[in-house]
Amino acid sequence: MKKRRDLSELRSQRWFASDDMRGFAHRQRTQQMGMRRDEFMGRPVIGIINTWSEMSPCHAHLRDRAEAVKRGVWQAGGYPVEMPALSVGEVMVKPTTMLYRNFLAMECEELLRSHPVDGAVLLGGCDKSTPALLMGAISMDIPAIYCPAGPMSNGQWRGMKTGAGTHTKKYWDELRAGNITQSDWIDLESRMTRSAGTCNTIGTASTMTSIVDAMGLTLPGASSIPATDSGHPRMASACGVRIVEMVWEDLKPSDILDRASFLNGLVAYMALGGSTNAAVHLVAMARRAGVDLSLDDMAAMAGKVPVAVNVFPSGEYLMEDFYFAGGLLALLNKFSHHLDLTRPTVNGQTLGDNIAGADCWNDDVIRGEDNPVVPLSRGKTLEVLRGNLAPNGAVMKSSAASPKFLKHVGPAIVFDSPGVMNTTLDDPDLDITEDTVIVLRNAGPVGAPGMPEWGNLPIPKKLLKQGVRDMVRISDGRMSGTHYGTCILHVSPEAAVGGPLALLETGDLVELDVIAGTINMRVDEAEIVRRRAAWRPAPPLYQRSFAALYQQHVSQADQGCDFDFLSGTAVVPDPAIY
Ligand code: FES
Ligand code: MG
Repeated sequence: MKKRRDLSELRSQRWFASDDMRGFAHRQRTQQMGMRRDEFMGRPVIGIINTWSEMSPCHAHLRDRAEAVKRGVWQAGGYPVEMPALSVGEVMVKPTTMLYRNFLAMECEELLRSHPVDGAVLLGGCDKSTPALLMGAISMDIPAIYCPAGPMSNGQWRGMKTGAGTHTKKYWDELRAGNITQSDWIDLESRMTRSAGTCNTIGTASTMTSIVDAMGLTLPGASSIPATDSGHPRMASACGVRIVEMVWEDLKPSDILDRASFLNGLVAYMALGGSTNAAVHLVAMARRAGVDLSLDDMAAMAGKVPVAVNVFPSGEYLMEDFYFAGGLLALLNKFSHHLDLTRPTVNGQTLGDNIAGADCWNDDVIRGEDNPVVPLSRGKTLEVLRGNLAPNGAVMKSSAASPKFLKHVGPAIVFDSPGVMNTTLDDPDLDITEDTVIVLRNAGPVGAPGMPEWGNLPIPKKLLKQGVRDMVRISDGRMSGTHYGTCILHVSPEAAVGGPLALLETGDLVELDVIAGTINMRVDEAEIVRRRAAWRPAPPLYQRSFAALYQQHVSQADQGCDFDFLSGTAVVPDPAIY
């Protein structure tokens, strides 16, 4: 533990302690809010960045949790201030929350920098909010704890477990196939999601919160606590107590994060059978931290750590079952031989200290290397594919794919937009079989823009009725972590910037070989050159707005989709106080 700092070393004191007109105004205006002088003077100021919103059901409880954090901050002698930030709720935000991940990262960083804040508790959890808030906190590099929203309670419908996202997609296919009725579907609508909290499957939310828990950025095991469990506000209150201590210790993200801590995160990622989205977010986070981390590092870890958590979409339980089975700490304990146990974490202990003795209470939910949910020989959490269709890489989750498609050659049917794709695929006269490779392009970071979760391309209705539930699908977009299927995603470079996916034509043969790690179009080089010469980029969709800025500055999927001016570790001076 570092030496305790003096009050004069805290950045908030540049605002509050100075004996001049500005210092007067800062103290005066804080008292305007009803604060007594001794309630904020001489105390670390803790910013509680809250992504609560009535447009974000996953974060519906975060106002209450902010109160719990404040309780902890007061008890520990700090001064808590709640600061609202964009919620990026996955379901309502269009065209995609990914368009706003960097926006929230900027907002978090600039809220912390421009205000008198010494330490931060970050309240988030729904998919992009975790990487966004942490990218901001990493760049700001003041003491910070991530307080994850926690998964929603288990869902059930007619005696069957239902998981958010996973079963929406499953029953949508069953409705289209004619196996459930419209009234079944409406009944399901009111029963699937029972409480506040993030998706109760291993979607991107629980993937990312578990990864950052393993990296040491949350209180140990916090990511597994269900949103409405009474342990959740207790965890939030403990975040409040601990962040004040961290300010005195000056324990910053840069003290916690290095390549080894990111690799610890990858162990959790792979053992969970986590979302492909994490492959984008982790590269972006690592670049903010000055850590070298590539898709190949992730594929290497996926080759060592099998899917061991038996939760949807790879397994058959839900996040609440995972919590009751011992949660993330029990999982990490089973995989401790893959971890660097010496890494520090926000609670001041090492990862090894935090997972020592963490028991597993249900070996069917949390498996070990000896009886994984998906053996490595059958599929992995993440595969990286390259070839003449994706020179800089594409990703897929082979553990969620049909084994028969892992080596496949089929003719492509290529779509430039989801609207045309959806109507065409439902045409009963469409010439298509389950061997066809469905391709959607212009779904990438620049092309869409924002790289939406369009990548779980729909199975044609007539094939659904024949019982087909999976096909090879390729896109430069992303896919929800709650979904499954043989979906090749994040093709880089994307079509909109002239990646070879732009040159593919309907009828071309596409060859996928997951064991060899390749994705190719069987089109000869001379023809590819001819098509490239004829290709012209589409004009940008946006002439103004945040989306225009996004299209101009976003990097490709394999580079993390951060903005060129936000990535990296260049020092940003603290604001002058005049
Ligand atoms: Fe918010 Fe899934 S929609 S976590
Ligand atoms: Mg999701």
